[in-house]
Amino acid sequence: MSDRIQAPRGTYDVLGEQALARETLEGHARRILERAGYERIETPAFEATELFARGVGESTDVVQKEMYTLDAGDAQPGGAGGQSITLRPEGTAPVCRAYLEHGMHKLPQPVKLWYLSSFFRRERPQKGRFRQFWQVGAEAIGSDDPAVDAEAILLLAELLEALGCRGVRLRIGSLGTPETRRAYRSELQAYLRAHEAELADEVVARIDLNPLRAFDSDDAGTQRAMAGAPRLLERLSDADREHFAAVCAMLDAVGQGYDVDGTLVRGLDYYTRTVFEFTSDALGAQSGVGGGGRYDGLIEQIGGPHTPGIGWASGVERILMTASAVPAAPPPLDLFVAYAKPELRAAAFRLAADVRRAGRAARLELGGRSLKGQLKQADRAGARYVAILGVEGTSLKDMETGAQQTVEPGTVMHHITQVDL
Ligand code: HAM
Repeated sequence: MSDRIQAPRGTYDVLGEQALARETLEGHARRILERAGYERIETPAFEATELFARGVGESTDVVQKEMYTLDAGDAQPGGAGGQSITLRPEGTAPVCRAYLEHGMHKLPQPVKLWYLSSFFRRERPQKGRFRQFWQVGAEAIGSDDPAVDAEAILLLAELLEALGCRGVRLRIGSLGTPETRRAYRSELQAYLRAHEAELADEVVARIDLNPLRAFDSDDAGTQRAMAGAPRLLERLSDADREHFAAVCAMLDAVGQGYDVDGTLVRGLDYYTRTVFEFTSDALGAQSGVGGGGRYDGLIEQIGGPHTPGIGWASGVERILMTASAVPAAPPPLDLFVAYAKPELRAAAFRLAADVRRAGRAARLELGGRSLKGQLKQADRAGARYVAILGVEGTSLKDMETGAQQTVEPGTVMHHITQVDL
């Protein structure tokens, strides 16, 4: 026998109860988001690499080392290589690309879109971190009204609550506009250089490229040094400060709790103004259940006109790891069709097919079991009724009461749809 082939590291199969739990999650997401005017969108699993390089940002971990990039294979003979494509590591840049490509600026703004799709990052697999993972996400494009921010945050809070996610905490901050950030960045770089000796090597190495990530470091020396660092929240322009205050005021108005966190940095470059993250203490090191923020410059970055936007994404695996209210009950089985003799198999097959065609759940014995084994199987499958086809006729057993009666084969459907037998 040759070696058994296994699924690649960082991937997993969705089986049985997990598939049901996902359906429940999807149902809640659809209900909550569509009630607020979000429409479902699907984009391709891969995009031009350029979209993420420009959209997500060259200096991010995602673009620098986590993308699965390949040649599309459409090079002309004698020409340069084919287009470079990348399995989508996130959904915001693709949704913005689709917004531009389909002229959605002509629709009433903001355009609200939601997705539930799989994403790919070449990360070190660990609990709650996969190389293929799913996100439920929402993007509202075309308005910079702080109410859109507050509404988006609230919808993710509502989704996590509906699913019974435990130990959830919301942190919120503002990164201001690119100009404010640039000035702050220089100030922070000067601070970091003055404290180089106290910082972890990897933080020092990123002073030029991405100094804000220093707040993210879990190195104790760096954390001590960062406690005294200037905060971007204290450097916001008046307009940005007002925008942030308005978002907070709206969250207050609906009683949504949050912690303002001036050190909140997100791993993607496109954020401006509002940023937020939901964490759960029911998760381990990978405590981020979901997060997002405003990306008012992203559409311009990928070649469109200035268009504001805000959104979030939440990891399906992480939601399910923290969720307590996700029922994993299999769908009900109305009828199990058993038969006493092999020659009755075709009649049993037809009865099960007829019942399903009439809109009920029906299953047929397929395991070659004895009649006793079939009844046991029906019980295990949670069947409400069992039809037993015998040489003498058909009987119907009510599995709830145990009552059994002889029926005309053509009336089984009639019997099982009656509440009173
Ligand atoms: P993100 O913070 O990179 O943001 O990912 C959002 C969520 O996806 C995380 O909070 C986490 O739950 C989940 N996640 C990320 N990477 C992994 C992984 N390797 N394994 C399992 N779960 C993971 C974004 O992707 C942005 N597009 C969010 C956004 C939308 N911002 C604005 N609009």
